[in-house]
Order: sequence, then C-alpha cells, then structure tokens
Amino acid sequence: MPNRITGTGSFLPATVWTNQDLAKRIATTDEWIVARTGIRQRHIADDTQSTSDLALPAALQAIAAAGLQPSDIDLIIVATTTPDMVFPSTACLLQAKLGIAGGPAFDVQAVCSGFIYGLSLADHLLTGGPYRNALVVGAEIYSRILDWDDRGTCVLFGDGAGAVVLSRGQQPGIIASRLHADGSHADILKVPGHVDRGAIRGDPLLRMDGQGVFKFAVRVLADVANEVLADAGMNRSQIDWLIPHQANVRIIDATARKLALPPEKVVTTVALHANTSAASIPLALDIAVRDGRIQPGQHLMLAGVGGGFTWGAVLVRW
Ligand code: UT7
Repeated sequence: MPNRITGTGSFLPATVWTNQDLAKRIATTDEWIVARTGIRQRHIADDTQSTSDLALPAALQAIAAAGLQPSDIDLIIVATTTPDMVFPSTACLLQAKLGIAGGPAFDVQAVCSGFIYGLSLADHLLTGGPYRNALVVGAEIYSRILDWDDRGTCVLFGDGAGAVVLSRGQQPGIIASRLHADGSHADILKVPGHVDRGAIRGDPLLRMDGQGVFKFAVRVLADVANEVLADAGMNRSQIDWLIPHQANVRIIDATARKLALPPEKVVTTVALHANTSAASIPLALDIAVRDGRIQPGQHLMLAGVGGGFTWGAVLVRW
C-alpha cells in the first residue's frame, strides 16, 4: 500500500524578532542579513514554551487537515535537536499532550535533516508494519542553543514547528526517498556540550563554519535530489516544487540552479521564519499547501541537509 501525506500543519511562536531588532543588540544590519541569507525575521519561543508545546498546535492542525482525530494516530516521530528533556523523548511528551497512548513514539536526531529522516522512516514503518496514520513533526527552539553574541550564527536561526500526517492510501504519495550521513564532517556544525553528572561539560551553544556548511549543503542537496529522481525513474522536468531545507536563500538558489529548476518552482519561506532546523521543511510545505501553490497530482522534491553531517530527500506525488 502506498503512503500519502494527508494533512499538514505548522506553528510559529507569537514573538517576532526582525533583523532591525537584532541590529539594536549586536553589530549587524538588516542589509547584511538579507543580502547574505534572505532572512528578514525569526519567531522566538517564550520562556514558558517547550519544543513539545510548539509541536502540539502544528500536530493538531495536521491531524485536522487529514480529517482525523488524535486517536487515529498510531505512530509518532518527532525530529528535533532541541528536545524538552534528555528523556523522555519529545515524541512521548507530545503523545501525552495529544491525549493518546499505545502506538510507538520516538525522536529522530538528524538536525536539519531530521524531518526528512522521520518522513522516510514513517513511510517504511507504515509499509512494513501494522500502522495506519503516522504523525511526523519537526519542532525546534534554536533560540536556546544560540550564542547571542556571535553575529555569524545568531542571526540565522529561529523557533517553530511543522507537521504532517502520513496515511496508508490507495494512490501513490511517497514515491522514493534516500538518507545519508557522513560523520567525518561533525566539526563544521555542532553544539559540542553535554550534561555530565549534573553539570554542562563543553560548550553548549551552536558553533559553525559557515562557508564549510554552505559548500557542503549545495553539493549534497542537488546530488540527493538527483539520486531520488533516478530511483523513481523520473527526471528534473517532472518536479513541480522543490521544497528544500530553509537555511539560506543563497543555498536554496544555488541548489535550484544545479537542478536546473527555475525560481518559480522553488518554495522559499526562510524570510519569514529563518532557519528552524528540523521544522523548516514541514513549515515551508504547510505554507505552500495552505496558500494553494501545491495542487493534487504535482510532484514535490523535499530535500534536507544538516549537522552530522546528514542529508536526504523524499519525492512525493501530492
Ligand atoms: O542548516 C544549516 C545552517 N547553516 C547555514 O545555513 C550556514 C551556511 N553559511 C552561510 O549561510 C554563510 O556562510 C553565512 C551567512 C553564515 C556567512 O556568509 P559569508 O558570505 O560566508 O560571510 P563570512 O562568514 O565570510 O563573513 C564575511 C564578513 C566577516 O567580516 P570581515 O571578516 O570580512 O570583516 C564577518 O565578520 O561578514 C561578517 N559578518 C557579519 N556582518 C554583519 C558575519 N556575520 C555578520 C552579521 N552581520 N550577522
């Protein structure tokens, strides 16, 4: 049985910090941030909100869009790098907030590729297992792992959540997917600190070699999209929408150029919410579904890359 995305949802916390707001706190400008990244603003969770709190409204919206109730969900995967706790998983906490129990619930830690990893996993579990409706969520509160004095990183990220329901269906939905990792690039994007006997050992904030990440991202996003197309026996001209990880418009534009896709076939929402890591692809998808860009029968290429390094793509018929 093929598996289809039957509903999408998203949530952004109410507080918005514009580039101008950041320019009052650190040595940056709106012009620099827009020119180098395309980002204009980011949403910031308040101190009372946890990652599962952002995931909940996104999940409920996706479940409603699928015409389902929370009780219909029998598998939950949350992709996050900023979990509520060391354990239990954010997926278990979300399950409890949804008022359901019994089905498996677990987190995926693949940083900005987490949603692609989660969606591909859910697809395989639905195909091979007894599950009918999987909830796959990307949710993050990056504002808590940023060094707000490091202008090279803090301007790039934001908080948010996106979700999809993946259901067994009669029509092809997910056509093909590929996942990859190469841990030898761990050092170019990392939060090296960890909890050790009640203390934080090492640096608990995000560190990045921006140019290293940039070059790596452009190469692997295009490569993995081509790989998935080949698996599906399809070609680039059949892609109606490229929905890439929303990190930076220059990475997105360069990837689209390598795939010979015109800008009008690319969903770009990073200006509105900055890089929300695992949440960015489902957020962009939900925005483009709700504004009517994505129409039945179209082919979507979802492609992500992130720390690890990890990368992957999922080809979807809508
Ligand atoms: O999910 C993946 C997450 N990571 C990414 O998406 C990052 C990918 N990398 C990038 O997007 C780019 O490398 C950045 C946007 C991070 C940086 O752009 P860049 O063109 O690679 O700039 P740079 O690091 O070479 O820095 C150029 C200049 C430097 O000043 P000097 O040394 O030339 O005087 C930086 O200090 O820009 C300066 N700079 C800033 N200036 C104003 C760095 N950050 C800022 C800032 N505002 N926020």
